Amino acid sequence: MDGFPARTASYEADPEQVARVLLLYSGGLDTSVMLKWIQERYGAEIVALTVNLGQPGEDFETVRGKALHLGAVDCHVVDAREEFARDYVLPAIRANGIYGLGYPLFTALGRPLIAKLAVEHARRCGCDTIAHGCTGKGNDQVRIEATVATLAPDLKVIAPVRSWQMGREEEIAYAREHGIVIKSPPAQTTEAAPYSIDDNLWGRSSEGRWIEELDHAPDDDVFQLVTRPEEAPDDPEVVSVSFERGVPVALNGERLGPVELLERAGEMGARHGVGIVDHIEDRIVGLKVRDIYEVPAAAILLLAHQELEKLVGTIHQNQFKPLLDQKWAYLVYAGLWWEPLRADLDAYMEAANAQVTGTIGIKLYKGSARVVTRESPNAVYDAQLATFSESGGLFSQAASPGFIELWSLQSRMAWRVREGDNPRPPAPPGAGPAPSKR
Ligand code: ARG
Repeated sequence: MDGFPARTASYEADPEQVARVLLLYSGGLDTSVMLKWIQERYGAEIVALTVNLGQPGEDFETVRGKALHLGAVDCHVVDAREEFARDYVLPAIRANGIYGLGYPLFTALGRPLIAKLAVEHARRCGCDTIAHGCTGKGNDQVRIEATVATLAPDLKVIAPVRSWQMGREEEIAYAREHGIVIKSPPAQTTEAAPYSIDDNLWGRSSEGRWIEELDHAPDDDVFQLVTRPEEAPDDPEVVSVSFERGVPVALNGERLGPVELLERAGEMGARHGVGIVDHIEDRIVGLKVRDIYEVPAAAILLLAHQELEKLVGTIHQNQFKPLLDQKWAYLVYAGLWWEPLRADLDAYMEAANAQVTGTIGIKLYKGSARVVTRESPNAVYDAQLATFSESGGLFSQAASPGFIELWSLQSRMAWRVREGDNPRPPAPPGAGPAPSKR
């Protein structure tokens, strides 16, 4: 068809074949313009789908009303918070899921679920195509399209924002012409273009505006979730997080379901200014970008989990697991949630978490979260052995010199080889006759 971009991938829709489109709809400018634009350009019907992953302050009924007003034949609002928390965030906690030393993956975890729901609803509503509002520069297009292409090779994808070549100004003009109401009032001009936000119950990201200037320290107005540390309460608060087999199950002794637990941990952290991350990130499409993250729940729960894991693991487990954690985070970041290696790694994560039961106390104070107490029936720890106050008992200090001699043997030999004179290590006392002395 005229004016449509050439198609590269097998899953990209042939414009002639697009009849009914499942649109992943947020209610924002891009997807609202899309809702009209797809009807106009493709002559297709739109079924809108809005997924609640716990984005704070979102009014989903208003979003639904807007979709219907713009001509969607239907708009489904799905509350997926429970599934998101249980099947996506809890596994991430077991895997200490952090990408690039600072990003707890909240968006990366949300996308495969959103795309899976899109597939389910597309099938149920007889849609042939799924449309999303991702740009061609980000990771989200990878996550969504990889999911659709994996779970539903029969469905096609369109990504209008990637190809329509409208800038923000043109989109606003298009919106005006088509009676699309723009959400935030100051968002009328490019000077006041809003931050690009994505959020769910595991965190919030801001991109764009001054964030793109690496030497620009954060303006206060970017922090809409976490209290700025300067303004946080003068009194610290200790929160205790209890885990069973690597799953957080209680805060301050109160048992909570996963959604409520994540929300409450987030509120406590946000109050104390905890979880601000100013992050330089290597995107999967090659770009290096800066994100401002507000991740109060993750800052508390990942810290607590990691600490408990360290307490119950052996030195070998503790050295090995981070390698797999890193691989897990990378697969998830890179949009390969459905890759079998991720499931293989999850089997390991579950096994490694079998002992991760106990309680960690964390002190929250003006932007910092610090472990202050630890408790576990499975701790590989014995105060009697570790104490400085008495010698003897099960730990034989007398055995230490022999251990050190053997432990350092190869390193000492190699040292001498490099030093050049290559002597053999001295024989231990009582190991045969000493070389004769003159
Ligand atoms: N950089 C993060 C990621 O790739 C956050 C992206 C936020 N997404 C967005 N559409 N604003 O997961």
